[in-house]
Amino acid sequence: MRKLVAGNWKMFGTQDSAAAWALAVRNGFAGLTCDMLVCPPALLVNAMSVAVRGTPVAVGGQDCHMKTEGAHTGDIAAPMLRDSGATHVLVGHSERRTDHAETDAIVHAKTEAALAAGLVPVVCVGETGAERDSGAAEQVVGRQLAASLPDQFVGIVAYEPVWAIGTGKTPTTQDVADMHGFIRRTLDARFGAAAAKMRILYGGSVKPANAAELLGVPHVDGALVGGASLKAEDFLAICRAVSA
Ligand code: PGA
Repeated sequence: MRKLVAGNWKMFGTQDSAAAWALAVRNGFAGLTCDMLVCPPALLVNAMSVAVRGTPVAVGGQDCHMKTEGAHTGDIAAPMLRDSGATHVLVGHSERRTDHAETDAIVHAKTEAALAAGLVPVVCVGETGAERDSGAAEQVVGRQLAASLPDQFVGIVAYEPVWAIGTGKTPTTQDVADMHGFIRRTLDARFGAAAAKMRILYGGSVKPANAAELLGVPHVDGALVGGASLKAEDFLAICRAVSA
């Protein structure tokens, strides 16, 4: 499976920084053999999708509402993201789960909405530090997968240990291998042959210096990159490490 390097800009970026990023990636993507995705804030999705046209970079949203439209002030529906040029959408990121009290049931409904709109959902799961320390990491991730993924799921799973996000801390390669192996077995058991097409990304403090090691772990099919994806040269360096 081709690796995917996905950038999650979170609540960072401007029209100018998005244009500069797209130009740098346009000038720097030659020779890269991974798939690429960038998820800027919703207000930049359209400009980014125009700016990366003709490059292998796909554009995604960071969240979508579970309904296709309606009286939901401030929310963004999956068909709107699609209309703006997005092909993917992150769903259930731990910051959404925490900041907006998103439950597995909400993530499940949003994933269905993304699929119905023709978007590829990138469903995020991961344990907190306390859950890992108590030995419950697999149990937590297993529960999130069971409750967040609809039966007709086709998409991408991102394993992001909450304690590794934005902290500079990463799990050991053995811990990543164990969890990705567990997620792979879980997807295979539930979705059968269809699971073979589902990528499992690792996310949490991925940077150019650790990308090759983390993405070399069995069953790691790509990376979801936060902070380091904002700088085009770091994003490209991660892509190079994966393409080598
Ligand atoms: P980070 O964020 O790379 O800044 O740790 C990853 C994420 O939250 O997707």
